[in-house]
This record gives sequence, C-alpha cells and structure tokens, in this order.
Amino acid sequence: EAAAVLAGRRLLLTAGPTVEDLDPVRYLGNRSSGRMGYAVAAEAQRLGMRVTLVSGPVNLPVPAGVERIAVRSAEQMLAAVTDRVAQSDLFIATAAVADFRPREASLEKIKKRGDGGLTLELVQNPDILAEVAARQDRPFVVGFAAETHEVERYARDKLERKRLDMIAANRVGEEGSGFDADCNALTVLWPEGRHEIARADKAQVARELLAVIAQRFRNRP
Ligand code: C5P
Repeated sequence: EAAAVLAGRRLLLTAGPTVEDLDPVRYLGNRSSGRMGYAVAAEAQRLGMRVTLVSGPVNLPVPAGVERIAVRSAEQMLAAVTDRVAQSDLFIATAAVADFRPREASLEKIKKRGDGGLTLELVQNPDILAEVAARQDRPFVVGFAAETHEVERYARDKLERKRLDMIAANRVGEEGSGFDADCNALTVLWPEGRHEIARADKAQVARELLAVIAQRFRNRP
C-alpha cells in the first residue's frame, strides 16, 4: 500500500505555470492551471507525506497541511527547489516551466513607438527537472510530459535524456484532458515498464500515480 511506503517521506513538487515578466504590467505565461500538481500535493499529504509545493501563480487554495512556496519565474522556481531538494526523498515536477524568458525585464512600461512592431529577445530558462536529476544526492525523480502527438515516444525520450526515474505523460490540446480540465489520463513510464492510468478526475489520477510511484520507490536501488 502506498501509505506504508510514502508516509513520513518528504515530497518536493513544482506546480503551475511560470510567468516571465516583460515589464511591470506584462508577462509571458502559459495555460497551466496547476490543478494536476495541487491534486498530487493533496493526495500525498493524505498519505502522510511531508509536502512542499513550489508553485507559480495559480487560482487554487493551498491543500491543508501542505507548505506552499509562491514564485513567479523559472529562475525563482529553480532557486526555491535548489534550497530544498537535499532535504527531499521524492521530487515531482508538474510545473509548466517557460522554456524562454525575456533577456531583460524593462523597469518601465514598454511604450508604442509609431506604428512599428516590437521584437522580443528571449533567452533559455534553466531546466529545473534536469538539474535535480543531475545531482549526486538526488531524490527519486518524476517528470511530466505534455505532448500533442506521439506522446509515448517523446515521453520515453525525455525519461532517458533527463535521466528520470519515472515520467507521467499526457496528451494536451484535446477536449477534456490536460490543461485546465477536471479530468486527466496518464501514461506512466519508467526504464523497465509502463502503466496506464485511465481518464478520471485529477484527485483519482493523483492517487493512482502515487501508488505507481510508491511501488517503484520501494524497489529503487
Ligand atoms: O522538456 P519538457 O519541458 O517537455 O519537460 C517537461 C518536464 O520537465 C516537466 O516535468 C516540467 O515540470 C519539467 N521542466 C522543468 N524545467 C524546465 C522545463 C521543464 O522542470 N525549464
């Protein structure tokens, strides 16, 4: 049973979008609602885990008993994770981290100039999940992969490339699953196997995901 394996263990997870400021009033963001991550946090807490949730801006209540650290940007999310990762047994990355951020955020509101356009210069953000997985003293590392097509192939590639213990893949851009939906369905992959979690509400999917994680976590080297 999942609780027997996970109770008392420390879970660090990321959730929600990151937002990358362009100026004091504008940002680059994405459509992540944070609901899958918050559901995992709530279910893990129910199993008796000690849960720290590093979250981008979302409209969700903090699950009871969960410590939330609010951040905005990918760089802030990385800093919050780096501070706490050595004290965690399990790391789950559900956040939709922006791949790019503006090279610099303007201190003043960007103004229109004539009828010309505006070119934004973007630089790449750190990959928080890959950085955690590359650590010597790493926790058990679980990533997410949201894909629009060839879900399993891209997810398995990500599992190997980022050297994860497990990845949970879901199809996005489809009615009724993924971003901002009540329900989700996941294909969970690890180096030697796979498990399908059928479409259900996100609390149920989170419960099943933690059960699969518990099995692999117990058998980890
Ligand atoms: O490569 P891709 O962005 O599709 O990988 C998705 C996984 O990596 C998710 O678990 C996401 O939270 C994590 N990620 C991250 N930092 C990034 C990009 C993705 O932690 N900069």
